[in-house]
Amino acid sequence: MNYTLFNEIDSTNSYLKREEQVGEGEIIAAKTQTAGRGRRGNVWDSNEGGAWFSFVLETNPSVPQELYGKLPFLACEAVINILTDISGKDIFLFKWVNDVYVNGKKIAGILIEKSGARFIVGIGINVNNVLNEQFGLQRESLINIINKKVDTKEICIRVAERFYENYYSLLRGGWDEIYSVVSERNFLIGRRIEVVDEQNITKGIAEGITKEGKLLVKNEDGVYEIESGTVRFL
Ligand code: BTN
Repeated sequence: MNYTLFNEIDSTNSYLKREEQVGEGEIIAAKTQTAGRGRRGNVWDSNEGGAWFSFVLETNPSVPQELYGKLPFLACEAVINILTDISGKDIFLFKWVNDVYVNGKKIAGILIEKSGARFIVGIGINVNNVLNEQFGLQRESLINIINKKVDTKEICIRVAERFYENYYSLLRGGWDEIYSVVSERNFLIGRRIEVVDEQNITKGIAEGITKEGKLLVKNEDGVYEIESGTVRFL
């Protein structure tokens, strides 16, 4: 795994979109991002001290394309696995389908973007950074949990390695193991939510995650299987 750290960059995802020659196994990280991006056009608070990094996954035409829909699960499992190992605490939860939560607050977010024939996997983990309240109070940093600094380079490399391992495991039919980690650590379970996608808003109680990775939401009309969308708490 190659690791390149920039002192300052606009966004590690944007960098990889521009630099098409950078291939798999190269981690691009930054101490700070001046235009860190979250999903849905949100700004991602990218102060010094966090693990802000991206890497590439080339698509392969011989791989069933629906497998690529599982990439957010692979990335979240990788973050949960490494944070659990580093902290020694099994307290990190999966918030379908792109976030990791701890103590009811967000500690990590994933932004996966398709660029030509490759995916850019962008991961932001609050590690040693001070959380700026202007970006909301419902966020957490690893340092507040374990009361010590952790090397962000180590986190970036270990999470990226785990992500690639998960991907090769998925190709060999290993979805069940990844699925069981995320579904057993489903932060949404029992919570009243709404899921918004391009066409629909579904309100109800999150009941679980299907084997296919869909979110189950129950309301008075029945149980809905939701394939994608943004979750908001009610
Ligand atoms: C989200 O929760 O909305 C996703 C946040 C993703 C942030 C990471 S930080 C590294 C990479 N570069 C970016 O500009 N965004 C991702």
